[in-house]
Amino acid sequence: MKTIAFIGLGKIGQTITYASLIDGIFDQAILYDIIPELPEKFEHELRHAFATKGVNTDLISSNRLDDVTGADIVVITAGKPRKAGMSRRDLFADNAKIMYDLAKKLPPKNPGAIYLMVTNPVDMMASIFSKFSKEYVISAGDQVETMRMRSYLAKKYKIPVTEVNGFVGGEHGEDAVVLWSTVSIKGNPVEESVHQEVENYVKQIPGEIIRVMGGTTWGPGTIIADIVRSIALNENRVMSIAIPREFEGEVIHVSIPVVVGRTIGPSIEQLLDEKDRWYLMAAMKDFHSTYRELIKTSMIDQLS
Ligand SMILES: NC(=O)c1ccc[n+]([C@@H]2O[C@H](COP(=O)([O-])OP(=O)(O)OC[C@H]3O[C@@H](n4cnc5c(N)ncnc54)[C@H](O)[C@@H]3O)[C@@H](O)[C@H]2O)c1
Repeated sequence: MKTIAFIGLGKIGQTITYASLIDGIFDQAILYDIIPELPEKFEHELRHAFATKGVNTDLISSNRLDDVTGADIVVITAGKPRKAGMSRRDLFADNAKIMYDLAKKLPPKNPGAIYLMVTNPVDMMASIFSKFSKEYVISAGDQVETMRMRSYLAKKYKIPVTEVNGFVGGEHGEDAVVLWSTVSIKGNPVEESVHQEVENYVKQIPGEIIRVMGGTTWGPGTIIADIVRSIALNENRVMSIAIPREFEGEVIHVSIPVVVGRTIGPSIEQLLDEKDRWYLMAAMKDFHSTYRELIKTSMIDQLS
């Protein structure tokens, strides 16, 4: 993979961009935002960082979407973030309009690109982008929750995080489900008495970070850059991201652990126990009905 484009250069966009580029794995990166001068000044910042690290990635910065061309991966963080007390789904109507616009304009100049959605509600924005572009769109999904879960268990049991395995799946956010049949510490399952506190942590910590720091950046930024890396370098790591799947006639995005490389899949769904598979099916049903309802109430269908 040679060229990556970043659409949106706010808090999370800057963090993902930096973490994706600092190892010099791309030939070219295109930086785009609607705020005048922001892409250009951010380009300077990155060049200074590249100078000390010896990175030679070619940078293009622009306020013109037309300059986003020839990308192999397009990372989308454009849109409104939630404020303390808001749910991700509260952002649906505003951010879906941005996705509709981008879905119409980006594909003609970026044939064959993989689109990686980050804007919230991230799984629904991936589905909206896919609906209106017909392109291959993945959502960063629950890889972020997966790392939050692993970090919590590592701290609780005072063990290296590399000794914790397992995934969180379902819809990113309040409805995510820890897939306990995949979770292990030094190869052993986690005692049931701690399940609830882990689930609470995974769901509540982003809101707490937003309340104090104004947004989450370093965690998701680093984690999502690892998704980018796994695709670009064909690392084939198993990650809990959401890939497009047909559900009752609609393309939807719900996270299930999947092999992530230059091609994405297969999923490891067959390795889950009955209970976890039931939770994932319930997550898909819930996603689908909420998604249909939000499309109706925000009148997104009328755009097409
Ligand atoms: N999936 C995740 O794990 C995760 C983590 C953090 C943030 N997010 C989401 O990412 C989004 C951005 O969050 P943030 O904290 O960076 O917000 P932010 O306000 O700091 O940045 C958003 C940026 O998007 C730009 N933008 C708005 N409309 C645009 C358009 N049409 N084209 C290009 N750029 C446009 C804005 O100018 C701004 O620079 C939010 O929806 C947030 O909820 C997702």
